[in-house]
Amino acid sequence: MAIRLKMVLSLLLSAAFLVSTCHGSLLLLELPSEIHPLRPRSGSSGDHVAGLSCLSWRLGVETNNLIGWKTIPQECEGYMGNYMLGEQYRSDSRVVAGEALVYAAGLDLAGDGKDVWVFDVDETTLSNLPYYAKHGFGAEPFDPTPFNEWVLEGNALVLPESLTLYQKIVSLGIKVVFLTGRTEDQRSVTETNLKNAGYYTWEKLILKTSSYSGSTAVKYKSSERGKLEKKGFRIVGNMGDQWSDLLGNSTGLRTFKLPDPMYYIS
Ligand SMILES: *[C@@H]1O[C@H](CO)[C@@H](O)[C@H](O)[C@H]1NC(C)=O
Ligand SMILES: [Mg+2]
Repeated sequence: MAIRLKMVLSLLLSAAFLVSTCHGSLLLLELPSEIHPLRPRSGSSGDHVAGLSCLSWRLGVETNNLIGWKTIPQECEGYMGNYMLGEQYRSDSRVVAGEALVYAAGLDLAGDGKDVWVFDVDETTLSNLPYYAKHGFGAEPFDPTPFNEWVLEGNALVLPESLTLYQKIVSLGIKVVFLTGRTEDQRSVTETNLKNAGYYTWEKLILKTSSYSGSTAVKYKSSERGKLEKKGFRIVGNMGDQWSDLLGNSTGLRTFKLPDPMYYIS
């Protein structure tokens, strides 16, 4: 019943969104803020480009059927930009975070302070969309130098759907652990960025140390989650935008995959 009510509410919210975008003004309800102000170009979804369905390619990525890729197909860059900056990415994120929220609310928690939820950072709790809007949506190979400069600016934005989930997690008494591929030297800027984005409290922020240089994200994250379990924590949920956040060992009771068709991390 509660779920049905939520669905109706979210339909109403979508309707309000449509009304507000058609008339260019907010008529009914306060809407969640845009992550990044660029709007998709209308009529250029680029679904089929040179015989390739970019939507099918994106689906292949999200289902972990396409793995190990270095760049998105060149001809899909326009499509991917429209997707990431448009309503579909937000809607896809909303479904994932909404499902996680219902799941978390239904957990039978021990209440002993040992239940934890693991969140990835980039494209999970924080969004680097301004960076990708400037540097492209994945058709060029990832370049760590300008990306790390961007990270050190500390201006990554919030992914609003994840913040809503985070707030619920905290209110349920589940402890939050951020587990990120960002490196230890980026700790203070990451802490500040998380706080500025609305993530005020956490149990641990785990960043990659040099001992993991050369190992995959799956290995690094599995190992760090294993350490949490050895300390007696129970990972009741685990959310990330990469399959490498969610595969391997000690993955948690349930995993949630946020959309990210722009890059692949093994
Ligand atoms: C998972 O655990 C097994 C057994 O300890 C180990 O051999 C394997 O390397 C681990 N996998 C990852 C991805 O850490
Ligand atoms: Mg990530």
